[in-house]
Amino acid sequence: MKVGVSNLAIYIPPLYLSHDDLADFRSVPRDKFRLGLGNNNMAIVPPWEDTVTMAANAADMALEDGGIEKDDIGLLIVSTETGVDQSKPVASYVQGLLGIGPRTRVYEIKHACYGGTAGIMSAIDWAKSNHHGGKKALVITTDIARYGLNTPGEPTQGAGSVALIVSGQAELIHFSPSLNAFYSEDVLDFWRPNGYSVPIVDGKYSIECYLKALEFCTGDLRRNIAQETGKSLLSYIDYFIYHLPFAKMANKAHHRLISSLDLRVSEKELERIFEESFQKKVVPTLRGAKEVGNIYTGSVYMGLISLMEEAGRDLEGKSVGVFSYGSGCGAEYFPAYIGEGIRKQVKYLNFAEQLKRRRKIDFQEYTGLYSQSKRKETLNPDDALRNKNEFSRHFFLGIKDHKRMYV
Ligand code: CAA
Repeated sequence: MKVGVSNLAIYIPPLYLSHDDLADFRSVPRDKFRLGLGNNNMAIVPPWEDTVTMAANAADMALEDGGIEKDDIGLLIVSTETGVDQSKPVASYVQGLLGIGPRTRVYEIKHACYGGTAGIMSAIDWAKSNHHGGKKALVITTDIARYGLNTPGEPTQGAGSVALIVSGQAELIHFSPSLNAFYSEDVLDFWRPNGYSVPIVDGKYSIECYLKALEFCTGDLRRNIAQETGKSLLSYIDYFIYHLPFAKMANKAHHRLISSLDLRVSEKELERIFEESFQKKVVPTLRGAKEVGNIYTGSVYMGLISLMEEAGRDLEGKSVGVFSYGSGCGAEYFPAYIGEGIRKQVKYLNFAEQLKRRRKIDFQEYTGLYSQSKRKETLNPDDALRNKNEFSRHFFLGIKDHKRMYV
């Protein structure tokens, strides 16, 4: 039995704002966002899309590309920190839009940005059990990272969804859960109390919490790999994917990882090792963070898709170290092994294509859409449907009588 991910798909919103435009309007040097945060553009969600429609759009592609029937799904998990209701899960709305039948276990997972990995690992355990009845799991990460206007978090916004099919006959990604390393602690680095539309963030402290979790997990992962394979972390892992609230976080994280390996070499040699491994093993994973921004639960999976598009079929047989971090906080560091399914998957990624087709908006449109996102009036279905294409098929029509409406 080859339990793992058999295929995946990403959906990103059709609008974006450039960080140069944001910097100009906020009277900030462009280099602060471009070099200091490492970001070029960020995805903006139009009024006719939300967490639910993005998830359904990504899932549609994953199901179609994988040739999977709705009846093949026995478990549907949606991981998000942009829930649309305190009680009804995003997963139920998605089940309705996709037309997935009633003989399915359906639920939502929340643990900030770590929720996506919690969903994948739960689905792996389910697929390994004898309770799946020959069915597959559909795990979807979907989020809108929205911060207050003119706050330090504003340039680290983004949105998108990744859908992954977990099954017992997977050829794309396999895992070795006995190697996984974990870290969790009760901290207040980033949180969104009930009733708040944007998070409260202690930005610098959140970076400290992230790096502390990374260092802790690196120690355990390194030890687990050495015990099971006799190899060092750097020789075992071909690519490093980090949770990326902004692209430059990859530099900070990789620096911390290299310096925590206890390599006993000079500072100069340590810097050389960092630079070489960063260019070769981290840079190919960064496209999503630079062009889409933070997508919270899906961040590391967008990193994986960026890498798949960059490396293509050469990824077959490679091991990828994935560091997933969620504020609050919870983290997991795990190796993912790419199998022969990459040969088929590269034909269906469509990430570059979606990036190419996006429409650039200016600062005025951005602030207009931002304030519109807080209003609740309903939309004309014809206006929404005008935006239908092969990537966007599901649309949010607003809220009437406290009920969310979709088409
Ligand atoms: N040219 C080049 N670089 C410049 C520059 C210029 N003109 N001006 C500033 N910079 C650099 C700074 O030196 C700094 O780089 P270093 O961190 O490497 O020193 C970088 O640009 C950012 O500058 P500041 O530290 O002054 O930025 P800031 O105070 O505006 O806030 C932030 C940065 C804390 C990340 C903020 O964007 C934020 O709060 N973001 C949201 C929270 C977040 O992303 N936390 C990350 C960890 S938590 C997590 O990962 C979960 C999650 O998804 C949220």
